[in-house]
Amino acid sequence: MTIARRGGFFRQTNRLNRKQEYADLEEHVSLTKGLFVTFEGGEGAGKSTQMRLLADSLSARGYDVLTTREPGGSAGAEAVRHVLLSGAAEPFGVRMEAILFAAARSDHVEQVIRPALERGTIVLCDRFMDSSRVYQGITGNLESSFVETLERIAVNGVIPDRTIIFDLPASVGLERALRRAADEGPDRFEKEQMETHEKRRGAFLDIAEADPERCRVVDATRPPEVIAADVLDLVAALLPEEDAARTSAAEVAT
Ligand SMILES: Nc1ncnc2c1ncn2[C@@H]1O[C@H](COP(=O)(O)OP(=O)(O)O)[C@@H](O)[C@H]1O
Ligand SMILES: [Mg+2]
Repeated sequence: MTIARRGGFFRQTNRLNRKQEYADLEEHVSLTKGLFVTFEGGEGAGKSTQMRLLADSLSARGYDVLTTREPGGSAGAEAVRHVLLSGAAEPFGVRMEAILFAAARSDHVEQVIRPALERGTIVLCDRFMDSSRVYQGITGNLESSFVETLERIAVNGVIPDRTIIFDLPASVGLERALRRAADEGPDRFEKEQMETHEKRRGAFLDIAEADPERCRVVDATRPPEVIAADVLDLVAALLPEEDAARTSAAEVAT
């Protein structure tokens, strides 16, 4: 896998020659495949906070980073976001909502995420397909075949390389989220019963257990900077240059 890095160079071939050739160019050299990282978990778990901190760390290391969110993230999807979060679609039932989420995701994937990955960008996304599995599938009581079919259509092969699940008791997350939303009031999903939020926590943990290659769970009750260090480690492990740097550091140490 190759990642775009500002001022970086092709890794595959001719590294020294290219280094010479591009030595004074500051723009990044675009590569073949980026890295797709999604942030999942309940309300107030710290997803948005941690995504910002990770984006800052990776940008500071010279990587090309794109942050985005769901529902939304592209023009078409942002148009649907308000319908979903305001609750305007709620009276039409959870199937309708699920299809709207899928429509928004499809637009987001094709217009924003896939092109960015093709440019070699690291894409960080605040909520993605696992939120639909949990919110519409588990706590929406939609049959899993319906949810799986929508997921396949919406994602269209763009599966996250890493999904970080922020885990904390629902009561702690909600308290944080409600404090944050003091001016706006809770959205369509934040308003639901505590029992529903706890069920979602369990559902996210089940996803992590079923897909240990892709998912990592972090304890989100800790201070933000402690969590951020863990998150950076989880993602750095997937970056070829970081990996190489660590391996050579280990070699020097032995
Ligand atoms: N580790 C943490 N400890 C305490 N408060 C936090 C932590 N992470 C985030 N917060 C605060 O909690 C609220 C919700 O965080 P946010 O990142 O918006 O969560 P999410 O995006 O998962 O809903 C914000 O006000 C944020 O400043
Ligand atoms: Mg958020």
